[in-house]
Amino acid sequence: MTITIKSAADIAAMRIAGRLASEVLDMLTPHVKPGITTEQLDKLAHDHIVNVQQAIPAPLNYCPPGYTPYPKSVCTSINHQVCHGIPNDRPLKNGDIVNIDVTVIKDGWHGDTSRMFVVGEGSIAAKRLCNFTYEAMWKGIAKVKPGARLGDIAHAIQSFAESNGFSVVREFCGHGIGQKFHEEPQVLHYGRPGTLEELVPGMVFTIEPMINAGRREIREMGDGWTIVTKDRSLSAQWEHTLVVTDTGYEVLTLSAGSPPPPAFINA
Ligand code: MF3
Ligand code: CO
Ligand code: CO
Repeated sequence: MTITIKSAADIAAMRIAGRLASEVLDMLTPHVKPGITTEQLDKLAHDHIVNVQQAIPAPLNYCPPGYTPYPKSVCTSINHQVCHGIPNDRPLKNGDIVNIDVTVIKDGWHGDTSRMFVVGEGSIAAKRLCNFTYEAMWKGIAKVKPGARLGDIAHAIQSFAESNGFSVVREFCGHGIGQKFHEEPQVLHYGRPGTLEELVPGMVFTIEPMINAGRREIREMGDGWTIVTKDRSLSAQWEHTLVVTDTGYEVLTLSAGSPPPPAFINA
């Protein structure tokens, strides 16, 4: 397997792409309200990326082997949708939870990040799943340093999720990222500590756990993209892009509106 190691200049460029992706989420945040459609959110994101950021929305026409070209500029995954939901003309309703996943390309480099939004007033269970999944992502991030292994990240996320009665989706994972959207390595969100690739400074990858309130099994919808939970239980996901530094990690997908890390970071 060939994992590209990024230079200081590469990382500087990815810091910009990462910040831009996060700023798209900042820009969308006040719009995520009951009544707006995910297609309207997609258009806001598309126009901001293209006209304001002078960047490229990476999902638009993205076409991995075996897929049809992705038709929109962001992914919007609502309630029991796990990932890769396609924006459409149905309005968001009070109590929905929605993941918005943004990937921009700036000067040839990718930044990939997603957040959960609770539309209007969410149920306690829905808010708990969203907050909990945010902490699960950070449990993984906290393991990142030279000499650690991908299995350490995976295990931290899985053990945190399962000990709280949630399940971890197996079929989709984080990924290396750089001049390509999806590079090696795969960053699994389940596994055993001390296994898999050793982390070295300059590796850049995403951590993006998908956590279900019910069972972990998923299925694909007829549109060829949208993934849903088989039992129709709620699913949440958060995503950051980060780089392994000499002493730990740097999150690249940060902006003024990024939620603060949980209390256990730097505690
Ligand atoms: N942004 C997603 C990820 O985190 C990938 C979306 S692929 C798309 O890897 F084509 F659906 F946009
Ligand atoms: Co990703
Ligand atoms: Co993403």
